[in-house]
This record gives sequence, structure tokens and C-alpha cells, in this order.
Amino acid sequence: MPAAGVPARAAALRQEIERHDYAYYVLDAPTIPDAEYDRLFRELQALEAEHPELATPDSPTRRVGGKPLDGFAPVRHAVAMLSIRTETDTEASGAQAFDARVRRELGLDESDPPVEYAAELKFDGLAINLRYELGVLVQAATRGDGETGEDVTQNIFTVHAIPLRLNTAAPPAVLEVRGEAFMRRDDFERYNAKQREAGKPTLVNPRNGAAGSIRQLDPAMAAQRPLSFFAYGLGEVRGWSLPPTHSATLDALAELGVPVCSERIAGLGAAALVAFHDDVAARRDQLPFDIDGVVYKVNRLDLQRELGFVTREPRWAVAHKFPAQEQLTTVLGIEVQVGRTGALTPVARLAPVFVGGVTVTNATLHNQDEIDRKDVRVGDTVIVRRAGDVIPEVVAAVVERRPKPEPPRFSILQSYPLCPVCGSHAVRLEGEAAVRCTGGLYCPAQRKQALLHFAGRRAMDIDGLGDKLVDQLVERGLVRTPADVYGLNLETLAGLDRMAGKSAANLIAAIEASKAATLARFIFALGIRNVGETTAKDLAWHFGSLDRLIAASEADLLKVRDIGPIVAQSIIQFFAEPHNLEVVDKLRAAGVRWPESTGVQQSAGILAGKTLVLTGTLPTLTRDAAKEKIEAAGGKVAGSVSKKTDYVVAGEEAGSKLAKAQELGVAILDEAGLLALLAADNNNEQHVLDF
Ligand code: IVH
Repeated sequence: MPAAGVPARAAALRQEIERHDYAYYVLDAPTIPDAEYDRLFRELQALEAEHPELATPDSPTRRVGGKPLDGFAPVRHAVAMLSIRTETDTEASGAQAFDARVRRELGLDESDPPVEYAAELKFDGLAINLRYELGVLVQAATRGDGETGEDVTQNIFTVHAIPLRLNTAAPPAVLEVRGEAFMRRDDFERYNAKQREAGKPTLVNPRNGAAGSIRQLDPAMAAQRPLSFFAYGLGEVRGWSLPPTHSATLDALAELGVPVCSERIAGLGAAALVAFHDDVAARRDQLPFDIDGVVYKVNRLDLQRELGFVTREPRWAVAHKFPAQEQLTTVLGIEVQVGRTGALTPVARLAPVFVGGVTVTNATLHNQDEIDRKDVRVGDTVIVRRAGDVIPEVVAAVVERRPKPEPPRFSILQSYPLCPVCGSHAVRLEGEAAVRCTGGLYCPAQRKQALLHFAGRRAMDIDGLGDKLVDQLVERGLVRTPADVYGLNLETLAGLDRMAGKSAANLIAAIEASKAATLARFIFALGIRNVGETTAKDLAWHFGSLDRLIAASEADLLKVRDIGPIVAQSIIQFFAEPHNLEVVDKLRAAGVRWPESTGVQQSAGILAGKTLVLTGTLPTLTRDAAKEKIEAAGGKVAGSVSKKTDYVVAGEEAGSKLAKAQELGVAILDEAGLLALLAADNNNEQHVLDF
């Protein structure tokens, strides 16, 4: 026996949770914070676990999803679930044709008043029959073949927008509500983002998401995929007086707490339908969920009965479809486009297909990760989507239709080891999504970007060489690389827009002045990926000369303050590209110059150019620590003693190497001697460069 007050508390909790569910999922107006809702929910769960006799069939705790099923039981529909005829005509005449047919069937002529219609959205999900007995949801079924569907009650329980109990004190004996379960676009996106993060498979589109969720044998999985629901009709009804019209029926369902879409009208004649159609078509992409058209229905239920059915379709309703936003087509090839920043974007060339109102012949595949995730291959049949003004997209490959033998997976780098625009090497840096052309200074695709960056205030600071001028210079073929800027003269500039004598002269002066650069500015101006202003300064400070930077190995670069493997790789790849070196040479030949220094290693390292050999065990320093210190001071550590050895650093139990040093007369240091040498170096810091 539960303690007094427990049943009342459970009932109160149930009622309160239902109220919050309705506010949140149907009215879209949350009433309490999530944490508070969770607390109420857990309290009810605990009460029901402790007192199983208190659990009711309509308790909100059932929404978490029950045990996995072996399969779905068949459900014979009390009233067949029919489908509706589709007007293939996508123009306004679809509504007129429907109106004309209805009037003819009803025996109306021109002198009779217009017929009243209801118009609503054609939701793109899965048809569901909800059976309420005495106000409690007892069964949910799919449409199946119209006569027999599948019992998906457990999964439907997880759809919070669907009331488990009708909101009425006098519930009908039986009320079957029919409508569409679907996934909102934001829920779809959120779900996919979560899946992607977890490295799990994503949903192809919201409709597949809805269908997959409902037909999921594990209700706990279904609960992970958030669905919504809108009612659009009735099935079996007992003990409920039907309203006179379809629109009043939907109003009544809304009163009972069933979600009904507010995007609907009732109006007179074909004109009202045409207006609704056009209005919805114009706003299709702004709706929070996918629709594939609109549905027109004769509003009066008595007229619906009079019109009846022909074969398996009602004469009183018709679907007017919008142009499909998804179609199947085949991938003829995968090419790449090179963007302003050098990214190679893969593009699928498609067999032409009419989708979303236009003929689509190509669609972006974004990057290699996206290709891998969707596993799109040349020759594949793919689903192409184009919604509104959004650029066409390959949604998924239809793997079952893949040609045999299977085409190989597509790799951008394998197919395009070189940039298709300029022939420079293409690379993909660790941690980056994009494959990129390394010919930044040379590649025509990156020309404008490279020039603007080169001329920027913090780079070569060529005042007056802005967007518009760069456009003109590049489009007229006057400038191809930054080196060409130094070949411009008053004569060539004179022919350009807004290049009156004075501004042309100013520009030439600015170009001339920029030749006296600093190494840091010049390095920054090259536009090496991942090398910003600060890194450029660090590089200039460290190496002191451009040639030393160009010659630097990855290990050399990693010694520079704040430089990690990715930046080091970017620099190596940039200077490994002959096209870039060619431009650098031309810039120098054009007179661009800067003061150079010996850099950190040479100017500061007291051991610069010296070779040391370590032998024996040093009192405090490990072998590695000693080596590191010697290298930091510019020295090299060798393994054996020769005439070229400058110092041997000897610790305890030094053996043959020490003897060899004595024999050759090489200077011998102990640890203290080495540290003293290095200390002298630190006091001598003089890597001052004028930036
Ligand atoms: S009325 C007897 N209204 O479209 C008439 N159907 O064949 C029953 N659908 O799979 C259908 N939105 O699930 C109706 N506002 C709407 C609808 C709608 C979507 C679906 C329905 C069925 C198909 C019609």
C-alpha cells in the first residue's frame, strides 16, 4: 500500500509534466527550465518504480521508450487509411482543375455559389493513426498498405508532442486521430551534428529521419531522434459528435491538445486555394520543416460524404505538389575548383537533373571529409537536393545502385596531386579540412588575394593598391604575381579607371618606397599559410636572412619560438614549390630588399660552428639535456673525437674518447666548464634586429 498522499502526488506530477510537455512541444513556449522539468520527471519515475501499481498507461514516464521489440505487430485499421490523388500540374491550374471536378461531381453549375475549401500543408513524413480510447492513447500504427499497418505505439510514446491523454473531461469512447509524424529541420540538423561529432552515421534527410525513427525496433533509440506531429484527419470515431467541417474538426482536435498546424485556411472557390498555394510556395524554405506541397479538401463533411471515393482515393481531397527538392542522378565525374585562398573544393559533375525548379549539373562536395562521410564515388547514383536559393547538394550516395565492379573511393590528393589551375603541388596539412594549392604567389586562382595581402598595410604597405585596382590589374593581365607590381609604370596605369595622373604617380611612389622592406614584412607579405605577422617576425628574428629561412629544415623551424609542426610544414611546403621561389627571385631582382642579420644561431651562439663530443657521466646533466644546451648555443654534438672536434666534455668514467682528445690536444671541459661557457653566452644576448 502506498503511503497516503503518494497516489495524489503521482497524479499531480503526471498532470504537471503533461502540461509542460504541451507548452514546450506543441505551443513552443516552455514554461519551466529544463532542469526543473527533469527533477519532476525523475520524481515521478522514482514513485512509479517504488509503487508499480501506480503506473498508468498514459504516464509521461512511458515516453523514455520501452524494451526493444522483435518486430512490429500488424494492426488492422478500423477505417482504411487511404491516400490522395496528386495533381501533377504544378501551376495554379491544379487548384482550378480540382474545383472544376468537385463542382461537376456535386452537380453545381456556374450560377451556384463557390464551394468552401480547406487548404493545408502536405507534410513530408510518415502517416500515423493514433487511437485514443476513453481519452487515453492506446495504440499508434503506420499506414502500411492502407488496410493493415504496423504497431509502433512504443516509438510514438517517445514523441512528446503527441498527447498520451486527450485534454477533456468527457472523452469519446474511440477517437482515431490521423496525421503525419515528421522531423523539424532544426532537430534534424542538431541530431546530425551530434552524430557527426560522435563519428556515427547521419540521417540523409528529415523524412528518412522520421521514418527511420518510427520504424526503429529499439524505442530507446527512437527517443534519441526528436519527432514532431501534426494531425490532418480522423479514423474511427465513436461517442464524439463530428463538427460540420474539416477545419472545425482540426480546431476541435487542437482543443483536445492534439498538435494541429496553424498554416491552414478555409476559403471560397479555387481562388482561395490558388492564393494559399502561392503564399506557401513563396515561403516554403522559411518553414521550420519540409513539405512537399499543399493539400486541398472540401471543407463540409456532408459534402465529403456525398462525393465519396473513387477506387482508393477520396474525390473531396487532392494534393498539389511543389517541385521536388530531391532527385536521383548519377555522378559523371568529380573535379576540383580552386578558391581564392587556394583551397581545392571537390565538385561532382552530374547527369543533368531537374530539381528544386532548376536543372542541376554539378554540386559541391565541400571537402575530403565530406566525400569520405558520404562515400560518393564516380559512377554512383546520388540523391541531389536543392532547396530555395541554397546551392545544390549531394545528400547521399545510393550504395545499392553502385556499379559493379565498384569504382574506387575518391581521393582529392590522388586525383589531383597538382593544382589544376597552376600545376603547383597540392597538400593537405594536418588538422585542416581543405586540400590546398601551395603555389600561393603564383596561382592565378589566388592572384587577387595574394596581391591584396602582399600590398597590405602590415605587409609591403603599398598605399593605393586596393581591391578595385587589383581587380583591374589582374583582369587586364597587367599583373600576374606580386613581382609584376614592380614593373608597373605611369604609362600602364594611365589606361585604368580612376587612375588620373596624381593617383598614378602616388601609387608608383608607394611601390617604389615599398622596396625598402624589412625581412619580417617581406615574409609576412608572401602569404604563407599559417604565417601571420607575429610568426613572420619570429622567423625573421631567428633566421636573420631569407635564404636561411628557405633552406631551413623542419627541425630547424621547430626551434623557432612558438612554431609547431603545422606552421613548420606550411613553410616547408611553400618554399618547396618552385613556382613560389621563382616569384621570390623576381621580387629580389626587382629591387625589393631588407637589412639582414646573422640571426639567432649565428650571432648569439657562443658555440656556433663548434663541434663537441660528450663522454662519461656528467654530475647533473643528462646526455640529452647537455646536447640540448649545446645546440641552443649553436654547437653541434658529434659521436667521435677527431681533429675537427673543438671540445670534449668529459664526466666520470670517461674512457677512450677522453684519451683520444688528450692525444689530439683537443680542449677538455668538465660540466662546470661547459656551463660557464654557456653562461657567458647568455650574458651576451645581442639578437637585436630593427623591425
Ligand atoms: S489527407 C483520405 N492531409 O500525404 C485523405 N494527407 O496520400 C487522407 N499527408 O501519406 C490524407 N500531409 O500521410 C492529408 N495535410 C495532409 C497531409 C497528408 C501529408 C500525407 C499522408 C499520406 C499522403 C496522402
